[in-house]
Amino acid sequence: MKALFFCLLFFPASLFADDLNHLFTLLDRLSAKTSLTEMAIEKGRERASVCKYCHGKDGNSKRDYIPNLAAQSPKYLLHQFELFASKQRKDRIMSELADNLTADDRVNIALYFSRQQAKPRADAKAELKEEGGDLYMERCSQCHGNKAYGGDLFPRLASQPAAYLRDTLERYRKNIKWRPQSPMQDIAASLDDEKLDALVAYLSSLR
Ligand code: HEC
Ligand code: HEC
Repeated sequence: MKALFFCLLFFPASLFADDLNHLFTLLDRLSAKTSLTEMAIEKGRERASVCKYCHGKDGNSKRDYIPNLAAQSPKYLLHQFELFASKQRKDRIMSELADNLTADDRVNIALYFSRQQAKPRADAKAELKEEGGDLYMERCSQCHGNKAYGGDLFPRLASQPAAYLRDTLERYRKNIKWRPQSPMQDIAASLDDEKLDALVAYLSSLR
């Protein structure tokens, strides 16, 4: 809850359209009762069959440049669907796909992927991981959590593929506007190549 409040400070009110609040309410309602959660997850699994070619059947991505969805915060997933559908986050394929998902589909899919297990990626050199871990605790953990599991609107970063983390951080750093304004632009601007490498090594090898 603290993280959600923190996030509200960063996002302009327009992103919190009634739609999104409606989806959060639906998510909370389904998550509160095991039988409802299980049913939603089952529907999500079926609906997510179009996602498997890229994000993997269980949300562990098939390609290093594509993000994992497994164990991702369900509210973060719902927020990103909204941003893709409204083209505030620019990706042609994802926008088309998100546009075709009903409110129920979105919540079911978000629940399904959030409950899958993320598999750690390839390991990195111990020194690099240690350096990245120190940096992470100092500069990133207050928003993404001590274990980088995210929560609410903050994404999980643990075990994301290295190439996706690197590309994404690079785009924030270069201030490429493919996603709405976020605290990440300033944060990434303060990272040199060495720090970026260390953070990527640490995060992609985290369990
Ligand atoms: C053809 C490949 C492809 C398919 C199919 C696909 N995606 Fe994606 N998806 C991507 C790529 C590439 C990105 C990264 C976009 C970017 O860099 O901004 C992405 C990003 C996302 C994100 C943002 C994740 C994050 O960490 O910010 C979500 C959520 C997502 N996809 C959900 C889905 C869902 C749900 C489906 C199925 C309905 C799906 N995708 C199908 C390629 C695909
Ligand atoms: C003030 C809070 C805050 C801090 C501190 C922060 N982040 Fe973020 N980060 C966010 C938010 C919010 C997002 C969600 C996407 C967006 O708004 O761009 C995000 C998104 C990301 C993403 C994209 C994830 C995805 O799945 O697409 C990466 C990678 C990332 N952060 C890495 C880091 C790293 C590395 C650090 C430390 C150097 C860090 N963040 C520090 C708030 C923060």
